[in-house]
Amino acid sequence: MRRENTMQDGAQVLHLRNGGTSVVLDLSATGLPAFVHWGADLGDLSDSELAGLVSASLVQRVSGGLDHPARLSILPSEAFGWQGSPGLVGSRAGRDFSPAFVTTAVETDAASVVVSALDPAAGLELTAELSLDGSGTLLQRLRVRNIGEDDYELERLSATLPLPSSAREILDTSGRHLRERMPQRHPFVMGSHVRESRKGRPGADSTLFLAVGTPGFGFERGLVHGAHLAWSGNHRMLVERQVTGATILQGGELLAPGEVRLAPGESYLAPPLIASWGDGLNTFTARLHAHVRARPSHPRSPRPVTLNTWEAVYFAHDLDGLRDLASVGARVGVERFVLDDGWFRGRRHDRAGLGDWFVDDEVWPHGLEPLIQHVRGLGMQFGLWVEPEMVNEDSDLARAHPEWILQTGGRIPVEGRQQQVLDLSHPGAYGYIRERMLALLADHTIDYLKWDHNRDLVDAGSTITGRAAVHENVEALYRLLDELKAAHPGLEIESCASGGARVDLGILAHTDRIWTSDCIDPLERLPIQKYTGVVVPYELMGTHVGGTVSHSTGRTSTLRVRAATALFGHFGIESDLRTFSEPELDALAAWVGYHQRHRAMFHTGTAVHADLDDDTADLRGVVAEDRSRAVFVFTQVRSSDTYPPALLRFPGLDDDAVYRVGIPVEPASDPIAGQSALAWAESGVELSGRVLRTVGVAAPVLFPEQAVVIELGALD
Ligand code: DGJ
Repeated sequence: MRRENTMQDGAQVLHLRNGGTSVVLDLSATGLPAFVHWGADLGDLSDSELAGLVSASLVQRVSGGLDHPARLSILPSEAFGWQGSPGLVGSRAGRDFSPAFVTTAVETDAASVVVSALDPAAGLELTAELSLDGSGTLLQRLRVRNIGEDDYELERLSATLPLPSSAREILDTSGRHLRERMPQRHPFVMGSHVRESRKGRPGADSTLFLAVGTPGFGFERGLVHGAHLAWSGNHRMLVERQVTGATILQGGELLAPGEVRLAPGESYLAPPLIASWGDGLNTFTARLHAHVRARPSHPRSPRPVTLNTWEAVYFAHDLDGLRDLASVGARVGVERFVLDDGWFRGRRHDRAGLGDWFVDDEVWPHGLEPLIQHVRGLGMQFGLWVEPEMVNEDSDLARAHPEWILQTGGRIPVEGRQQQVLDLSHPGAYGYIRERMLALLADHTIDYLKWDHNRDLVDAGSTITGRAAVHENVEALYRLLDELKAAHPGLEIESCASGGARVDLGILAHTDRIWTSDCIDPLERLPIQKYTGVVVPYELMGTHVGGTVSHSTGRTSTLRVRAATALFGHFGIESDLRTFSEPELDALAAWVGYHQRHRAMFHTGTAVHADLDDDTADLRGVVAEDRSRAVFVFTQVRSSDTYPPALLRFPGLDDDAVYRVGIPVEPASDPIAGQSALAWAESGVELSGRVLRTVGVAAPVLFPEQAVVIELGALD
């Protein structure tokens, strides 16, 4: 339905409702529609109630301020008195710096709206799409078009949302290689809290989401609103609190000077800002996960248990050894074998070879086929590691085409992991990489590519245009991934970037899982997975069982805690299984079997975290969609302050159902280190979801760095 802004008389207020969320926009605001509300569903409101809601939201003029207090429009701009962070920044060599868009058309249904607007003086056209899906997730997407007569240099086009005044504490993530997505909290004071990614990929330290809630909000309670930018390049996320009381959340791509220069008629489509809210992060996350799972491209087949060779052999490739490794993998239930790095020309270490995507016939005299045939003969899929966007200076490719390297100023950028980044916006580079990847896929039966990206971008300019080219490279990457998938239906691709430095819903729209972190030490993985999981559902998150001694921390841990930590995700193994004893292999096979029996539920259910009173422990779980059963993992991270530890309360269950709670015999049957039996674990106990949520059960006494699985099943 298209309307020329002709909402019925008295109905100049638009109320979008879906999935428990309401968005109210005042279409009669000066210029562009203004936000009146985003958050909890307001119910079925009549036109007069909506008009009343708008009227009630209008603030008084105050001394020292402008005569018409600014309202937060879908693209806040100075022209209408907005003095906070603007939604659009750009100019024509300094002119047309302050756009004043006026709505020209509003196209709407119950849950979405497309607003078209024009600023004839600035020569700009705006399209803003806001839509609420069935989970109540809000997606906002902006496009600006240059309808002027000369070039328009765009510096920013960011989506903006209102925050409630109760939002007084910020949660975002930072991190580093081997320790991605560590949470940090800050009071939301006057001014701006800005998180920028300038690494050409989001980066290990970038924030996966920016959330603001009531002070002390947790996973189980506390009103929280927040957003994620679905983009794999540079970004800028901001929350801002003004003295007027206006509080906003804003997110968009971070553009370098001159990176997006719109010629007359050209347009720029901003990446989607995906926003959620909830009473506690569990609800916030449930919305986002439902949004992700509703995508037509979302993987729906059982996620194959994966054996990745990296920490097993690194660059020491030999056919017999790898065949043996695959055979032991098959013995414990592995379903996908991934040959990681080291297989192509000159790649005997990480200083050479990237770019020369031909099988190295010195190491693989008969090619990869003997290994692939062996793997497939064992009933497993075969996966191969590639890093197509990169090139070592020590490679035939770099020697032949130095102009394909992203660079500026006539100099080659400082190296990272002894490598440079190819400019996929260069037709020559794109064509070569596309041809090489297609040839690999045509010559071998490859079910899966582990697509790596092992350095941050710096000085990322194109030798053709001389301009910054991060934006164009992200678009080229998305196009390339789509082309490969279109040519090979069923091919799955993992997004890896020095572990988890490219984790976002932009890349996940073109791939099938992310490598969460290069650190698979279970204790380090607990927070990494917890905060990655705020946006990314378990089935898209690679979680592997490493060796007894972690390669990234040196810490020794039991198989139980390693496997229990990996249990809910896209489960895998990353260790030299040839060194495992028979009892260890049996135990690992039991964990693989347990995961396989429950993965359909882990990968469709609701992920929940308990806000424990005791911060020495961790309780997380997955509750089946119909809440008929749940599996939790309780981890005693370090020794608890009380002995025994505090009661465990279980979130996410059906209050009115009665559950039988127990510790399963499989996958591990000797969990309790206490000095007497734990009554409920010995005989089982039946309690309502309400009691389990509010009172809980005695926590098992575990040694530090130990974990136990707890099952809950509703009685008929
Ligand atoms: C970095 C990845 O995160 C690792 O898993 C592994 O694939 C190496 N690169 C290979 O070079």
